[in-house]
Amino acid sequence: MTDDQQDITPDLASLLDLAHRAAHHSYSPYSEFKVGAALKLVGGEIVTGTNVENVSYGLTICAERAALVRAVSQYGPGIRIEAVAVANLNGKASPPCGACRQMLAEFTRPEAPVVFPAADGIRVMAFSAVMPLAFEMRLR
Ligand code: THU
Repeated sequence: MTDDQQDITPDLASLLDLAHRAAHHSYSPYSEFKVGAALKLVGGEIVTGTNVENVSYGLTICAERAALVRAVSQYGPGIRIEAVAVANLNGKASPPCGACRQMLAEFTRPEAPVVFPAADGIRVMAFSAVMPLAFEMRLR
């Protein structure tokens, strides 16, 4: 256990379960890595996503970003994310990748818990610890 580690609450455990279920819809014929994500919005709505690969590999969309674009599409640009869960069906570690962290940063509360499988088991960390230096555009 590290300093950043938080306890998993029953709410987070059920969000993680939804992420796990979403992973069953994964389209991942190239990597065979099946990922699911579940986002809890302020207001209580839950939006899930899964990874969608493409034969032109770089076009692949991760589960977290799939969930995010779905959340904005469904609920609009004012959404705030209050919890994030990531799961996979491969029994491996899968923290959100850097690209997904940057995209989540735009909509996620710094204190939002992020729950994901790590090498040593399920981990819960604040979003600000997962993404400490997100790029922001400050023109003035
Ligand atoms: N993947 C995700 O869905 N989320 C991540 O944060 C990292 C990677 C997917 C992309 C690809 O389909 C597969 O996992 C292997 O990289």
